[in-house]
Amino acid sequence: MDGLEALRNRYLQEISAASDEAALEAVRVAALGKKGEISLKMRELGKMTPDERKIAGPALNALKAEINTALVARKAALADAALEERLKNEWLDVTLPGRPRRQGTIHPVSQVTEEITAIFADLGFSVAEGPQIEADWYNFDALNIPPEHPTRTEMDTFYMHKADDDDRPPHVLRTHTSPVQIRHMQKAGAPTRIIAPGRVYRADYDQTHTPMFHQVEGLAIDRDISMANLKWVLEEFCRAFFEVDNVELRFRASHFPFTEPSAEVDLRCSWEGGQLKVGEGDDWMEILGSGMVHPKVLRAGGIDPDEWQGFAFGIGIDRLAMLKYGIPDLRAFFDSDLRWLRHYGFAALAQPNLHGGLSG
Ligand code: PHE
Repeated sequence: MDGLEALRNRYLQEISAASDEAALEAVRVAALGKKGEISLKMRELGKMTPDERKIAGPALNALKAEINTALVARKAALADAALEERLKNEWLDVTLPGRPRRQGTIHPVSQVTEEITAIFADLGFSVAEGPQIEADWYNFDALNIPPEHPTRTEMDTFYMHKADDDDRPPHVLRTHTSPVQIRHMQKAGAPTRIIAPGRVYRADYDQTHTPMFHQVEGLAIDRDISMANLKWVLEEFCRAFFEVDNVELRFRASHFPFTEPSAEVDLRCSWEGGQLKVGEGDDWMEILGSGMVHPKVLRAGGIDPDEWQGFAFGIGIDRLAMLKYGIPDLRAFFDSDLRWLRHYGFAALAQPNLHGGLSG
């Protein structure tokens, strides 16, 4: 067919001259689009004699294929060139040092809570929780602290505001984790062994007191539990927690309305140069209250005191953190001062467990 050679040369030339994708697309449409020059020629095949068609058909198809191939090749070449151009302008110096990223730390209270949980888990205690805004019945009455009892004022309780027409029972910010004892007994019955870590609130503020602090409650109920079991568990706990052989505990006879008999436990320590050390010195730091669960408390939890008995304890988590990590002032725990957090905080991946060592 006449002119095919000219057509071929022209399109191949236009393709190689196309300087971007849009120009290339224009060439494609002009040649192979619906109304493209080559497409129109293909349509003319129908009007030819079979002999003519035998020659013209393959020639046109070959031309179409050749132009298509050239289009694809040119498109790839243009893309390569564009990438080459970008790489020339946008380059990265991969040898530059990275920008430092600030990493957060685990707060000592979180760390110590994890440590305590790991130790008591090993002793067969599971974790229970309760609300921080608590009905005064759970925080006081059920724990054998009647309305006129001095403990209600001694604990410097925060009461929730109540509107005049609010007939719900009074609520407080829980002053200790002991209400979780009642809630758990009601739910789980006996026998049971739990700890309940969490926030507690009292209106108090000095070097070792803040209005919000942390306790972990312990409760073990069974048929033959005695003060001896309590003492063993607490000593075992302190040895594991402080990872010091010479931890020395002092059990002091005390009084709590919800335990009978009751004991407060102090830990031997020293405060030399503002640094706290455990197991040495002539100071004693009170770390927990404990005792045998009062029959009235068992009853409030729906457990028959003639059949069951148990021990309970409440440990100050923040106190333990201060003692273990030599942190002198409790108030700084809750100041959110980044310098303090970086100094006393723990690496995020140092999760405590008994086998890997507790302090990470
Ligand atoms: N709830 C007591 C307190 O906050 C501690 C405690 C708990 C004492 C359990 C005895 C038994 O001081």
